[in-house]
Amino acid sequence: MLTLVFFLVAYLLTQVNALLDSQSTADDLYSPTTCNSPIYCEGPLLKAVQLAQLFADSKTFVDMPTTKPVNKVLEAFQSLGNDPDKKSLQSFVEDHFSPAGSEMKPYNITTEPLVWLDKVGDTKYRGWVNQLHHAWSKLAFKFDTSYLCKGCVSSTLPVRRPFVVPGGRFREFYYWDSYFVIEGLLKSGLNSLALDMIENFLDFVDTFGFMPNGARIYYLNRSQPPFLAEMVNLYYQKTQDISIMKKALPVLDKEYSFWLKNTTVVIRKGDIKYKLNRFNVESHSPRPESYNEDFNTVYNGTTLTTKQQNDLFSNLATGAETGWDYSSRWTKAKTDTPDTDILRTLDTRNIIPVELNALLWSMETHLTTWYEIYGGDITTDKLRRRKVQYYRKQATKRLNAMDALLWNQSQTSFFDYNITSNTQSTEFSPASLYPFWLGALPPRARDPSTLHHVFDSTRRQLKSYPGILASTTQSTSMQWDFPNGWPPLQYIVINSMLNVDALLGKSRYAPLAKVLAQRTAASAYCSWFLTGGSIPGNLEKLSNTTDNGHMFEKFDVRSLTASGSGGEYTVQIGFGWTNGVTLWILNKFNDLVAPDCTSSDIYRVPEMDQD
Ligand SMILES: *[C@@H]1O[C@H](CO)[C@@H](O)[C@H](O)[C@H]1NC(C)=O
Ligand SMILES: *[C@@H]1O[C@H](CO)[C@@H](O)[C@H](O)[C@H]1NC(C)=O
Ligand SMILES: *[C@@H]1O[C@H](CO)[C@@H](O)[C@H](O)[C@H]1NC(C)=O
Ligand SMILES: *[C@@H]1O[C@H](CO)[C@@H](O)[C@H](O)[C@H]1NC(C)=O
Ligand SMILES: *[C@@H]1O[C@H](CO)[C@@H](O)[C@H](O)[C@H]1NC(C)=O
Ligand SMILES: *[C@@H]1O[C@H](CO)[C@@H](O)[C@H](O)[C@H]1NC(C)=O
Ligand SMILES: *[C@@H]1O[C@H](CO)[C@@H](O)[C@H](O)[C@H]1NC(C)=O
Repeated sequence: MLTLVFFLVAYLLTQVNALLDSQSTADDLYSPTTCNSPIYCEGPLLKAVQLAQLFADSKTFVDMPTTKPVNKVLEAFQSLGNDPDKKSLQSFVEDHFSPAGSEMKPYNITTEPLVWLDKVGDTKYRGWVNQLHHAWSKLAFKFDTSYLCKGCVSSTLPVRRPFVVPGGRFREFYYWDSYFVIEGLLKSGLNSLALDMIENFLDFVDTFGFMPNGARIYYLNRSQPPFLAEMVNLYYQKTQDISIMKKALPVLDKEYSFWLKNTTVVIRKGDIKYKLNRFNVESHSPRPESYNEDFNTVYNGTTLTTKQQNDLFSNLATGAETGWDYSSRWTKAKTDTPDTDILRTLDTRNIIPVELNALLWSMETHLTTWYEIYGGDITTDKLRRRKVQYYRKQATKRLNAMDALLWNQSQTSFFDYNITSNTQSTEFSPASLYPFWLGALPPRARDPSTLHHVFDSTRRQLKSYPGILASTTQSTSMQWDFPNGWPPLQYIVINSMLNVDALLGKSRYAPLAKVLAQRTAASAYCSWFLTGGSIPGNLEKLSNTTDNGHMFEKFDVRSLTASGSGGEYTVQIGFGWTNGVTLWILNKFNDLVAPDCTSSDIYRVPEMDQD
């Protein structure tokens, strides 16, 4: 009886608190929970401004804070009449908005000298990595919306702590990018900034019930590959700071239920039902930050039925949720055709991706271990045991399902699974290697005779081109296809090779891992050097360059000297995950030697016995 009264009182108190919370947020911070702004999410104003193409990039407008209260902005827009011309829209925007990114305030970080710098043997790489170490200060920001007038808005989501952005058009932090940024910050000894970033993520999941794609209101309709548990793991491994667990565990519970609720698919094979996850976003309108692109994809071309339009909007938004926007992994057409935009064949929601399931298995496995070891501090023994059992069972079930549906024994590889055809998509992609990075390996994939072949396709790809690994073997205009390779994927493949060596108990793949590390570092270094990068007293700036060296987001695998291209926006520089992955590589492989970027250095794939 007494316990009942206690729970009743506790319940009433939480209700009162919830009420107080909602009132205080309503008063002090503009704090949305869904994308519902008449300026930044959907509606006639957004449509008119975006379709007028006032800016080269659709994302510019939705990153502009207002300089007048929302109701004044809406009134002024209405007074323009039904079909305002470009010039009046231009002056409307000038009169009511400040430049994109006005809320970003540089965050001062003090970088200590890099403690492992002397261990980098090559003097050019040493000078370069030292610059990258100090470059975090150019990418670290806080949001400051306190200067906005009363009633004015910005598309930023309220963030309490500083963060690192990717750079370029990406003026806010992103979900999966940040894992590789955090890896780099930890290598730079910026542990507290890494923790700030993780705590921002924990706040977001706590507030929204899931981690949005990035820190803007228009990213509230979707997530991105779930790396939060991996971030916590990385930070904990480096710092042994147990206090993170207390905060993270309940929040990771929340994130886990989001993925389970929103993205689970049941797949029948014979008499058995399996559950795996896909990316899955429901949308009936263009992504605000890619408004023109989506609008044209859907409306320019043969007329689609309303259902087809909504499916396409959903598949476009889901494609962005995968982090691979866009790729032939998600399109029915595998090459560009002259008369149809390949994006019109998007089929994202019908694909079960390897990496999403590997990441969720890893989340389940971390939560099993973490509840076992640290759960005692945050919950009762009984509840803790229940959580441990639950997550262990979920991980086991997922591994069974991955074994049955995603693993291909004759190809010694995982593959994405198409739930329409009930078959695997058997093209090579580095995404297939996530389970080797995270350890999501069913018994037959762990067998030494299998492990001797799991990088056969990877070796073939590395033999075919001088650069890093492309995202797929399909050549299209989309940026997550051949010939583009991306730093985060090289990180995952290099780690996979080192992990498989650990399972085999010998250095079978270490030489191959080193070649990929060499190529990844060289691609970033040479494209930086060829865009004007220099090191005082060590590497002279090319006389035919005007810039000061760019770190690119992606690279062309057909050479060691070119950035990538293609896709929906121009190639971005900055760049968070490239810097993070480079710091990680030069820390781990500190005997790499910088190439002469004007001749053609080649990093050859080592021969390997085939037993
Ligand atoms: C950042 O540090 C510099 C140099 O120490 C100082 O001049 C500047 O005011 C600081 N900026 C902020 C926003 O604190
Ligand atoms: C998750 O699913 C719920 C219920 O269908 C939906 O309301 C919500 O918008 C979804 N969230 C995301 C981020 O997709
Ligand atoms: C975002 O989700 C909300 C709520 O589910 C929905 O009303 C809105 O149309 C969605 N917006 C976009 C741009 O997808
Ligand atoms: C519409 O599609 C055609 C054919 O693909 C293309 O030439 C044209 O530029 C597109 N229009 C817009 C506004 O994107
Ligand atoms: C999935 O399978 C269906 C049915 O065979 C096919 O039409 C579709 O193109 C496939 N999707 C992808 C992305 O390959
Ligand atoms: C494995 O790959 C082969 C060759 O692409 C394919 O024919 C076979 O159906 C795949 N196996 C499974 C279990 O999907
Ligand atoms: C600048 O000179 C270097 C070395 O001669 C050459 O490789 C590079 O292509 C040149 N770049 C431009 C933009 O002309």
